[in-house]
Formats: sequence, structure tokens, C-alpha cells
Amino acid sequence: MGVELGEIFNSAVNNSLFKNKSVLQVRYTPESIPHRDEQIKSIASILASTLRGERPSNLFVYGKTGTGKTLSVQYVQDELLKKSEELGVNVRFEYLNCKLKKVADTEYRVLAALIRQLGGEIPATGLPTDRVWAKFIELVDSKKQLIVFIFDEVDQMVKKMDSNFLYSFTRLNQELSKAQISLIGISNEITFLENIDPRVRSSLGEEEFVFHPYNAIQLQDILNDRCEKAFKKDVVVDGVIAKCAAYAAREHGDARRALDLLRIAGELSEREGEDKIGEQYIDLANLKMERDKILDIVEGEPKQFQLVLYSIMQLTKGLKQGDNERLYTGDVYNYYQDLCGEIKTDCLTQRRISDILAEIDMLGLVNAKVISKGRHGRTREIRLSIPSNLFDKVEAILVDSFGF
Ligand SMILES: Nc1ncnc2c1ncn2[C@@H]1O[C@H](COP(=O)(O)OP(=O)(O)O)[C@@H](O)[C@H]1O
Ligand SMILES: [Mg+2]
Repeated sequence: MGVELGEIFNSAVNNSLFKNKSVLQVRYTPESIPHRDEQIKSIASILASTLRGERPSNLFVYGKTGTGKTLSVQYVQDELLKKSEELGVNVRFEYLNCKLKKVADTEYRVLAALIRQLGGEIPATGLPTDRVWAKFIELVDSKKQLIVFIFDEVDQMVKKMDSNFLYSFTRLNQELSKAQISLIGISNEITFLENIDPRVRSSLGEEEFVFHPYNAIQLQDILNDRCEKAFKKDVVVDGVIAKCAAYAAREHGDARRALDLLRIAGELSEREGEDKIGEQYIDLANLKMERDKILDIVEGEPKQFQLVLYSIMQLTKGLKQGDNERLYTGDVYNYYQDLCGEIKTDCLTQRRISDILAEIDMLGLVNAKVISKGRHGRTREIRLSIPSNLFDKVEAILVDSFGF
């Protein structure tokens, strides 16, 4: 006989703390967008010229993750589309999220995605790039129309491709006779424009808007609005929202993180059979998120990164406790070389390994302090900073990836 699960399922349905969990998910569009009036109005006043059939300036929107950039731009887009329908004006928005895998990593793929969005057809590969451009231009210029392209997380596109594509894109109007286009670039990378080809900077940055991180009070407003719709009455104990906001504000004022914390706290409380969400569940949710983040990073990084991390972990295990033994770049490199031999993988130079170490450091998995060894140059003193209770999990992921 199978295991009797009916009771578990029934109680899950009846005891849900949530009224509507999707309200806490990223895709949900909230009814109000507190603390972004100014940005929304400014963006709208620039894009409003589309309603007169005039091409608006290109826009560049930047700010850290979870500061409401995507939400605000899409809100303006939706409102403008409504108004343009009312007025019978032909405005088109084409949104592309450059972070999606296999979309914005080559010129071909970006153009192919846009061509399909515009209703055209194109093979997934095989055409020369100039043919793809020609096809795209033909489609855009097929009639008198105004198209606003939104490249969200455009920093990811440039990371994968370089800025030539964006440059060509900003010059497109010169090749169009009937249609006109504008470009909105959204970036999580604050210094994106500073580091880009100056020609792209001047055209993409015709108008710039910065989204500053929310502070704890602002995050509370955002959470309160959504909390009411997400949870049943009286489920969220006093102080929970404040704590959640405080955590997210400490990170960098990330509303996404605040919403995730609240959702996960709800899920954890529910799983424990609680009828309320207490403050301690925000701590637990925070721990869970940190832990998931580390595991995601480790799992998603390329093999060479994983090999270096694994080397550090094994060497750390071997260090004599309390003996003040230290780990240096050279030790890691030696271990790494042996490891590459063992699993028959190409071995990178020590220089490249140094770069990877710096990356691992930046992600917070190790702490690498550069120290001078006098005439012998410099090295890094390395300490693992993966929490000890995650050590086995991380190790298992790595071993699995190497196929030991
Ligand atoms: N002012 C706000 N009011 C309500 N929800 C917000 C606000 N700002 C951000 N959010 C929510 O936080 C999450 C992240 O916002 P998003 O616009 O995707 O951030 P970004 O694009 O800057 O990374 C989304 O779920 C969004 O609905
Ligand atoms: Mg975004």
C-alpha cells in the first residue's frame, strides 16, 4: 500500500498562511509603486513624445538590483500603451531581457529574438550577420512606426558581446526611412556607462536616471502593501515587516530580497505548522537565502573555478588546527595542477588561477589577502569563508560536477 498522504495535503491546503502567494513573486505587478513617483514621472515625460508620433530621446536607467527599475519602466510602458490606444497612435515597445540565457550572448541571437518579436521569421543559426541585420532593418522599416526597444540588464549583453552591437543599434535611425526607433537601456551595474565606448555613452545616455537603493522605511511601505494581499489576516506578527526591511536595507536596499525574505519566512513557518509568522522566521529565511546563494554560485560557475575552490577546500581540511598554518596561492596552484592531472582536464597558468582566486574572493567564498614577500613578489594568503555547515554540501556539488 502506498504511503497515506491525504492528511498532509489537506492540512497544507487548509493551513496555508498565504492568501495569494504570487503577490510576493517578482513577476507580480503591484497596484502602487511607492517611492518611485519622481522617476516614473520623469521617464513618462520623456516617452510621452511618442504620443505625438515623435521619437523620444534614448534613455539610460541604472541602479542596483531590486531598486524597481524594471517595474517602473514597464509601468510607464503599460500606461503609455493604454493612452496610445485611446488616442489611436501607433507606438510599439519591444522588451528584451538580456540576462536570459541564449538570447543576448551573440549579435545573431539578439537580432533573431527581436525579429521574432516583431513577427518575422529567422533560422536559429546559419545566416551571415549582415543578412540578419538587413532582415531586422527591413522589418522595422516596413511601415511608418515608432518602436521603443527596451534592453533590460543591458550590462549583461555588453559583458557577453562588447559594445559594438549597441553602437550599431544607436545608429540605426540613419538607415531607416519610414520608421524611427528609440532605445531604453537598463543596467544593474552602476558604472556601466562610465566604462563603455564613449560613442555609445553619448547616444544611449541622452537622458539618464538613477534608481537609488531603498532605505528601511521605504522598504516597509513596499512590504506593507503587498503583505496585506499575500497573507491571511493577522498572520504576520508585528515587527516582522520591520525586521525584513532592516535586513534587506542592510544588504543594499533591495526590494526583491525583502519580498523573498517575507515569502520564504512564510513558507518556513507554514512547514512548521505555525499559524503565524514570527520574527525568528525572518532570521531563518535569511540563513536559507544565504545558503542557497552560495550553493547556486558554486553550481553555476565554470569547471576551472570549481577546481580552484575544491583545491582550497581540500587543503583547508588538511591544515593543522590552531597551528596558525596558512594557505598561499602557490599551495593552491600545486594542488590544482595535480587535480587537473587526475581528472584529465587542461591546466591553466598560475596567472589565470590568480584571477580566478580574486573572483572567488569577490563572491565571498574565500578571503584572500594580498601580502608582499619582499623580493619574491606578492602572493595571496587564503582563508575559506564558506560556512562550515555548508562544507559537505558544497563538496558534494563539486565532486558531482567533476564526475569523480
Ligand atoms: N516601489 C516599489 N513598490 C512595490 N514593489 C516594488 C517597488 N520596487 C521594487 N518592487 C518589487 O521588487 C522586485 C524587484 O523590482 P525590479 O523592478 O525587478 O528591480 P530591478 O529591475 O531594479 O532589479 C519586484 O518584485 C518589484 O515588484
Ligand atoms: Mg530589473
